[in-house]
Amino acid sequence: MASSKEPLPPYFNIDPAAAAAKLSEPIDTARFAKAAAFAMKGREDLARRGYAPDGQKRLRRFSTWEICRYLIPVAPAHFRRVIKKHPDLPQGTGEGNSKWFTLDDVLRLRAHFAAEGAADREYLPWRPEGLPAKIVAVSNFEGGTSKTTTTAHLAMSAALDGYKVLAIDLDSQGSLTSIMGGNISDEWSTAFPLLAKDYAQALQEENAIREAGGQPPLPFDETLTEALGVSARDIIQSTHWPNIDLIGAQLNLYWAEFQIPVWRMAARGWKLWDALTDRLEADGGLDEYDVVFLDTPPALGYLTINGLAAADILLVPLGASFLEFDSTGRFFDMLHSTFQSIEEGENIAARALGREELNFEWDAVRAVITRYDGAQQGELAALIQAYLGRTLSPHRQDYTALIGQAGEQVSGIYEADYRDFNRETYARGRETFDATYAAFKRLLIGTWRRDMP
Ligand SMILES: Nc1ncnc2c1ncn2[C@@H]1O[C@H](COP(=O)(O)OP(=O)(O)OP(=O)(O)O)[C@@H](O)[C@H]1O
Ligand SMILES: [Mg+2]
Repeated sequence: MASSKEPLPPYFNIDPAAAAAKLSEPIDTARFAKAAAFAMKGREDLARRGYAPDGQKRLRRFSTWEICRYLIPVAPAHFRRVIKKHPDLPQGTGEGNSKWFTLDDVLRLRAHFAAEGAADREYLPWRPEGLPAKIVAVSNFEGGTSKTTTTAHLAMSAALDGYKVLAIDLDSQGSLTSIMGGNISDEWSTAFPLLAKDYAQALQEENAIREAGGQPPLPFDETLTEALGVSARDIIQSTHWPNIDLIGAQLNLYWAEFQIPVWRMAARGWKLWDALTDRLEADGGLDEYDVVFLDTPPALGYLTINGLAAADILLVPLGASFLEFDSTGRFFDMLHSTFQSIEEGENIAARALGREELNFEWDAVRAVITRYDGAQQGELAALIQAYLGRTLSPHRQDYTALIGQAGEQVSGIYEADYRDFNRETYARGRETFDATYAAFKRLLIGTWRRDMP
C-alpha cells in the first residue's frame, strides 16, 4: 500500500527553482558588518540581563548555610553566636536565622575566625610568605574544551577560598572578560600595551647599540611611544568579585598576533615570549595577588606562547573523546617544537657568548578531562589515563547541566543562587567544580611548598 510506505529521506526531490526562490541576494562584505552589528546588539542585551540597572555586574550574597557548609569551617550555631557577640562584625541581611552576607563580609568574618577561632582549623588558605604569586595558564589549541569555564571557576573558587586572584584574558573572543563583567573599549585596556611596552623597551636598547655603532635607529612609532607610558596597574580592573581583578580582552587584542612577528623581525633580540611575565613583574602588580589565571585562545599563537611562557602551572583541558585526545596530543607536540625552537635559537647565541642558556620550565603540567560523562566515556577516559599517565590529572570534571542553566544571567556555579535549583542538583554540580579546584589547589600548594627555601 502506498500510504504505508516510509517517506523518502529529506534530501530527495529538491526542486531547484523552489530552492533558488528561498535565497536572498548574494552576500557582499558589507553584509558581515550588518550581521556583526545585530549580533553585538543582541549580545549586549543578553549580557546586561543579569546586570544591575547601572550596567554593573553584582555578586550575589551568601547565606549562613552556605558559608558554614562551603566557606568557613564552623557550625552554624557557633557562627551565629560569634556574630551576635561581636556587633562590629558584619551581621548579614534577611529575616530569622537565614542571614545573607556579601563576599566582602565573608572575607571579614573569615579573618575574624582566623584570628580568634580554634587554632586547629584552617580558616585561611595556605600561602608561603615571601614567595611570588603562582601563574596558571589554561590552554589547548582545540576549541570548546572548557578552557574558559575551567579558568573562571578556578578563579572564583580560589577567591571564595580567600586567595587574591588576577584573571587575565588572552583570548580576543573575550569570554572570560564577559564572565568577569569587564569593560574593555579597545586594545589599550587589554594585555596589548604590555607587550608593546616590552617591545618598545627592547627597541630602545637595540637603538642605543645601533647609535653607538653609527647605524641609523629603527623607527619608533606612536603606538610604541604611547605604550611606554602604560603600566600593568593601569590596565588591571577590579570586578564584581572583591578579590578578583581582571586584565580583559576584546576583539582588537587579536591585532597582537599580526604585530608581534613584525616587531620581532625588526628587533631580533626581543624576547617576545617573556614580554608578559617581564611586564607583570616589572610593573609591580604581581605582589598583590596569590594566584594569576590566564585564559588563552584555542590556538598556539603569540599570545598563547606568552601566556604559556609566563605560566608556572599549565592546565590542558580536554574532553574524553577521540578527537579531543588526538588534538591534545598534537598540542603537546607543538608545545615541544615551539619551545624547543625558541630555546635553540637563543642558546646558539648564549653558548657563543658564554651566557646562561635558556631552558623553559613549568612547575606542573596537567591535562584535565572536562565535561566527563561517566556513563558514556569511562572506557575512553581510562585509555587516555593509560596513555597520558601522570600528565593526566586523576580528577575528572563531570559534565553538569548547571553550567548551561546558570548561563545567561550569572556565570557558572559559584555565582548562581542555590535556591534557583533543586538542592541536590546544586550540590552535585558544585561538587564537580569544588573537586576541580581541590585538584588544582593540591598542585598550587605543592609547588609553593617545593619552592620554599
Ligand atoms: N563541566 C562542564 N559541564 C557542562 N558543560 C560544560 C562544562 N565545561 C564547559 N562546558 C560548556 O562547554 C562549552 C565550551 O566551554 P568553554 O567556552 O569554557 O570552552 P573553551 O575551551 O574556552 O572554548 P574556546 O576554545 O572557544 O575558547 C560551553 O558551552 C560551556 O558552558
Ligand atoms: Mg575560551
